[in-house]
Amino acid sequence: MRMVDIIENKRDGIELNKDEIEFFVTGYTDGSIPDYQASAFLMAIYFKGMTTEEQGYLTMAMVESGDQIDLSAIEGVKVDKHSTGGVGDTTTLILAPLVAACGVPIAKMSGRGLGHTGGTLDKLEAIDGFHVEISTEQFIQQVNDLKIAVIGQSGNLTPADKKLYALRDVTATVNSIPLIASSIMSKKLAAGADAIVLDVKTGAGAFMKTLEDSKQLADAMTAIGNEVGRNTSAVISDMSQPLGFAIGNALEVKEAIDTLQGKGPADLTELCFVLGSKMLLAANKAETEEDARKQLQNVIDNGEALRLFGELIKAQDGNEKVIENTNLLPQAPYQIEVPAIESGYVSMIDADEIGVAAMLLGAGRATKEDVIDLAVGIVLRKKIGDFVEKGEALAILHANTEQVDNSIKLLQSHMHIAKEKTAAPPLIHAK
Ligand code: URA
Ligand code: CA
Repeated sequence: MRMVDIIENKRDGIELNKDEIEFFVTGYTDGSIPDYQASAFLMAIYFKGMTTEEQGYLTMAMVESGDQIDLSAIEGVKVDKHSTGGVGDTTTLILAPLVAACGVPIAKMSGRGLGHTGGTLDKLEAIDGFHVEISTEQFIQQVNDLKIAVIGQSGNLTPADKKLYALRDVTATVNSIPLIASSIMSKKLAAGADAIVLDVKTGAGAFMKTLEDSKQLADAMTAIGNEVGRNTSAVISDMSQPLGFAIGNALEVKEAIDTLQGKGPADLTELCFVLGSKMLLAANKAETEEDARKQLQNVIDNGEALRLFGELIKAQDGNEKVIENTNLLPQAPYQIEVPAIESGYVSMIDADEIGVAAMLLGAGRATKEDVIDLAVGIVLRKKIGDFVEKGEALAILHANTEQVDNSIKLLQSHMHIAKEKTAAPPLIHAK
């Protein structure tokens, strides 16, 4: 087999078979296929697309390029959730204990992530003592004992994806739905779950800015998962404004605890119910969505979900007292109001720019080496559709310095105010 023929076929729109796709992935990972051929091939995929079968082959070849986590020692249907990422998305911290409290084993591997705020691991590390590096054996033991563990990625998962993603980044081929879908799904499949619930975000603060693109990505990922035998479903949720009110690591942990106590923001709570219901259905713990929602409400009302979050924290050496006293989380020394420049209704919030403001405060990383300040961030006071008086706070900055003019200006210019009331965007666009 020659790589040049595979490139030529893809260029001419001829469907590739399993052997050809495996030849490419194996050869690129071991270095026998050079960057220039891989680049040409990726660009051909960018223009010609891939069938569902081709995407399945690509995904599985990337899964098989490295270690795969074997969760078979854990009893029950293991369900994972993946979000395509947004601003202030605290759902994993809530969903993991919420769904585990309903009896679904949660063996979660999370990331740190670049971007506006840290990933789930960074957020958990805002809890004093919490650690995320535990061995695979301990991980499995903990899920069997408690039904829940959240750890950092261990082992060498999907090296082919790492190498290809880096190449896509510099060859203008990131933005291809078959490539994005297979990249994300390869990581989920390698992490070992039996079923996967995807939260595909759409809007200004999302990777996919339009509903059309988000739907295509959701369909592609769902098709891949089901093609390779894992029950996969997707929700398309709104990211045209940040989710909940808090953006920042410790601030989001507090918001998660509030939500587990039943006093969280309405949008964040509802998204957790929608995703949580899908997870219970996938795990065969509920027959209908209505039944699933009842179970989720029940473990919030009886305190089980919050208690389990405490157990998770304790098992991973964190101070579980935070679930009763969120003042034990790191606190920023300054809390500074962002005043509205005029009176009116909030009509638009550019979530990406709000994320940038949080990053400027120190809540996120611009490069892998950056150190996050876990205490800092933003708490919104207003969301789309809310009325604000001139001078009233649009948001509160939690900062480690009084010099926050740049963040204030960013928020003032990206939380638009209009005379007419705008309806809040729907939270769930499709499910
Ligand atoms: N996230 C991923 O993991 N892969 C992509 O290709 C794009 C976003
Ligand atoms: Ca939030």
